[in-house]
Amino acid sequence: MKRKNLSPGALTAPLPPCMVTVGDMEKNNILTVAWTGILATVPPKTYISVRPSRHSHGMLGVGQEFVINLPPASLVKEVDFVGIYTGAKMDKFERCSLTRVKSQKVSPPTVAECPIALECRVTEVISMGSHDVFMADIVSVSCHDELIDSEGKIHFENADLLAYAHGEYYTLGERIGRFGFSTDKPRRQENKKPKTDENLKAESKSPFYESAPRAKQKKKTVSDKGKPHGKRIKAGKE
Ligand SMILES: Cc1cc2nc3c(=O)[nH]c(=O)nc-3n(C[C@H](O)[C@H](O)[C@H](O)COP(=O)(O)O)c2cc1C
Repeated sequence: MKRKNLSPGALTAPLPPCMVTVGDMEKNNILTVAWTGILATVPPKTYISVRPSRHSHGMLGVGQEFVINLPPASLVKEVDFVGIYTGAKMDKFERCSLTRVKSQKVSPPTVAECPIALECRVTEVISMGSHDVFMADIVSVSCHDELIDSEGKIHFENADLLAYAHGEYYTLGERIGRFGFSTDKPRRQENKKPKTDENLKAESKSPFYESAPRAKQKKKTVSDKGKPHGKRIKAGKE
């Protein structure tokens, strides 16, 4: 397949266009940040890259805390709006009819309409040219109750999260697999063959058996500190 070379640019996609909140319950602001991601699982660490010219940048410097609110596709207009207008001159929460609720562990409010929220405490700030990177510990996570089943699994497929790719917004689309599914063994019930030498030999040649054995995964849960609304939830997969 032929490829075209482009000039170097920030072209990772898709990204989550997060609604980031800063400040406290009295004085706060909200802006859209797409330059974000996970830095480490243990301890859970994230970052946001924010231009020094943003009104929120100053508030981040003072409060050293922020909340990453993951918006649903239904909030696409609000996501765009808070990413265009500055909070220096208006209350973007009011303009977008967004609801501030108290976060569990940090001062900035959580956006009630966002199904998932990561509460973060800044540990380091690094200048990266156009943007400053605020690295942070994720100190608490909260999630709309109805997304969590009785076993504590979060059903992201019901969150209808918004995605962003090179200046355009998308819905997330269908779930087409899950972590590690490519190494799954055929289910025993469906493949009940007698355990003859021949059958066992054939099984071992199957591409599903040839891949490296799956590391035994301990069921991970967010620590007690990250317990949202009194429920334990499983930590995200890398
Ligand atoms: C989809 C989208 C993604 C954005 N991502 C970032 C980002 O990662 N970092 C950043 O500094 N600004 C980003 N912006 C721009 C800010 O959200 C925007 O300048 C906002 O008005 C700043 O608000 P404030 O002045 O109230 O802090 C983004 C805007 C949009 C619409």
